[in-house]
Amino acid sequence: MLLYLFYRPAATASCRLPRMWLLISFWSLLYLDTVWASVTVYSQLPLGQATATAAAANYTGAAAYDPTVLNPPPIPDPAPGTQPFIQLFNSNTSQGGLSIPISGSFYGFSIEMSVANQVLGVNSTFLQVPFLNIMAAFKQRGGSPRIRVGGNTQETAWMVDSIPGGKVLIKSKGNSSNPTQTPALMLSPELLYMMNNISNLVGVKWFLGIPMNDTQNVRLQIGELGESILGPNILGFQVGNEPDLYGRHGVGGRPASYSPEDYFNEFGVMMAAINNDTNMPTKNNIIGPSVSTSQWTMEDVFNTGYIPAYTHNLGAISVEKYPDDNCLAVFGGAGQPKVPQTEFALYLDHTAGVNIVKPFLNASAIALANNKPFYMFETNTASCGGFPGISDSYGAGLWALDYGLQMAYSNFSTALLHVGGQNVYYNPFTPPPTNQTSFHQWTIGPILYSALIVSEALGPTDTAQVVDLNPNNANILTPGYAIYEQGTLARVALFNYVTDPTGAHAYTASLAVGGGSSGQPNGSPQTVKVKYFNATSVSQKFNITWAGQTFGNTFESDGRLQGDLDVKTVSCNNNICQIYMPAPSFALVFFTDTAYTEATPDNPQTFSTTAQTRVKNTATVDAAVLSTSNGHSGSQGRNILGSTSLEHNKATSTYVPSTAALVALAFCAILIGHHNYLE
Ligand SMILES: *[C@@H]1O[C@H](CO)[C@@H](O)[C@H](O)[C@H]1NC(C)=O
Ligand SMILES: *[C@@H]1O[C@H](CO)[C@@H](O)[C@H](O)[C@H]1NC(C)=O
Ligand SMILES: *[C@@H]1O[C@H](CO)[C@@H](O)[C@H](O)[C@H]1NC(C)=O
Ligand SMILES: *[C@@H]1O[C@H](CO)[C@@H](O)[C@H](O)[C@H]1NC(C)=O
Ligand SMILES: *[C@@H]1O[C@H](CO)[C@@H](O)[C@H](O)[C@H]1NC(C)=O
Repeated sequence: MLLYLFYRPAATASCRLPRMWLLISFWSLLYLDTVWASVTVYSQLPLGQATATAAAANYTGAAAYDPTVLNPPPIPDPAPGTQPFIQLFNSNTSQGGLSIPISGSFYGFSIEMSVANQVLGVNSTFLQVPFLNIMAAFKQRGGSPRIRVGGNTQETAWMVDSIPGGKVLIKSKGNSSNPTQTPALMLSPELLYMMNNISNLVGVKWFLGIPMNDTQNVRLQIGELGESILGPNILGFQVGNEPDLYGRHGVGGRPASYSPEDYFNEFGVMMAAINNDTNMPTKNNIIGPSVSTSQWTMEDVFNTGYIPAYTHNLGAISVEKYPDDNCLAVFGGAGQPKVPQTEFALYLDHTAGVNIVKPFLNASAIALANNKPFYMFETNTASCGGFPGISDSYGAGLWALDYGLQMAYSNFSTALLHVGGQNVYYNPFTPPPTNQTSFHQWTIGPILYSALIVSEALGPTDTAQVVDLNPNNANILTPGYAIYEQGTLARVALFNYVTDPTGAHAYTASLAVGGGSSGQPNGSPQTVKVKYFNATSVSQKFNITWAGQTFGNTFESDGRLQGDLDVKTVSCNNNICQIYMPAPSFALVFFTDTAYTEATPDNPQTFSTTAQTRVKNTATVDAAVLSTSNGHSGSQGRNILGSTSLEHNKATSTYVPSTAALVALAFCAILIGHHNYLE
């Protein structure tokens, strides 16, 4: 989505701002005062205390750290029932209506190609430790994390042998006399070596973008080198990003009339080039069409004969979708910018996820019928950076959980949450601005928790099947899902979207397994384990916890979950397990020991960093040591580097390096000091 911002200005009448302004707005500050004017803000005050409109209104820093806190939507009348009964079945066949098997790596991340050097690392020997820690957490829950490096910036990317200073990429400024020209992105093979080193450490598997701006002069070097350097760590190559916007944005000089048929033909040129390229031996891992669906539907593309024509190349069918946009607030133009307070409620019930997915149910079924997985290749709360107070709130965390499980239920096989730069509100994780890397750490967004929780909900077996339970008389504020693994009930996910600090709108769900009205044998376990995703209000931005643990607040995270694991054990009586759901809350209920243990790392693998040299702005390599993290402890360590001699002293937070740690030390380092990137 990143370069949407660059393309948009000249392409649409509503965006008439000079490029310089855009660069400023994009890479440094956003001034959105008009948006705030009518917004009442709780500025970091607990719910119910005096509101303040001034603080956030005067905020002029980068979007990623915007302090705006909105009001939770009012409690609806009638309110949802507080005693829902949910009948469940032990086996997937009795339950019925389930999805295809889904991987625990379902939720991954989409990293704009041009910001890979901020998020992943500086070069193949200087990786971002917080990023490694985050990925390790995913690997230990759902399996190998899936990351796409691509986006609009892939279209003008070109590979060179090397870049001075050993850099992985640079953006050239482009032609300043032409404000719509996307700055070309120069990549070096070092980017791919860096990605491969990340894979070796934390098992990340990659989707890589191949440029399609110019089918007269096809550039496949990214694919060729990608295959030779990354080998099996490549999941697929995306050819063409949002081609339905090629005409509107003039990508590669294409005319406004650019049609699905034009795309079909050009995609054919790309496939022929790949099929003839002996340096790209894998032919069947191409991802397309990746339309944004703002101009064409998936069916418009399918109607060209796309799938049968390219079935030997297509590894998956992809779409990219943001449910809303904040473009007027960012770029100005005719009309009123959307008001975050008004938009907020649109994210805070079950229909949000259902309605994003609905237009793609047909496409998902068509993909499935053609034996192609269906991917949501780029998504987030809203395009043009998301909304202050929404995209970075606990409410967005609930939204991403519901939306993710809804996509899984609807037979999507992967969904990638987009990561932009400093000037978006929606990042799951944000490295500090480059001039602050010496004293600030990363900022974790609520949707990172959602992605992690979905990987726990689905587990590592690749057999998870998801069903939308529509409990509580299908009340849209209290949705729920059941997840089966190996054909057996493994977990239930419950939501309460209502915010009510009085407790009057908490509910208690009675989960019945087999027995009673099911006509099935009694199947309830004696006890279930419950993990909560917690905050006191949907608008809360700080102190969000998952099973008692947190990544920390703004600028606080080294990518590790901190604090002691807090898991509730609930006794079940007469085959009924009663789960208390505060307003608001999300709970994941584990029905078997396996369902719990496989999603709860005993001995988390983390790459720790030492902090003492951070105050100096020297780019010396800092120590990276492997350690266990706080919380859950046990004997069956599963850290992926295979160390068996890890110790962690909770009282003093001392981390003892192991042999594996010293290996890690050799090529991992915290990013400190100033480094230059992008403009
Ligand atoms: C990688 O980046 C670090 C930090 O900028 C630098 O010290 C190191 O020399 C670089 N390595 C190579 C091989 O360029
Ligand atoms: C990291 O990349 C460099 C090449 O730049 C390579 O020499 C080194 O062996 C790699 N490390 C791992 C663990 O793959
Ligand atoms: C495509 O991008 C490359 C690299 O930025 C550029 O050299 C080339 O001129 C572009 N082609 C078109 C048709 O715009
Ligand atoms: C998902 O696929 C399964 C298996 O083909 C099918 O039974 C189910 O109806 C599909 N789900 C949706 C929501 O279309
Ligand atoms: C987070 O929680 C801690 C401990 O309960 C409290 O001291 C702190 O003020 C909270 N921070 C915010 C921003 O709410």
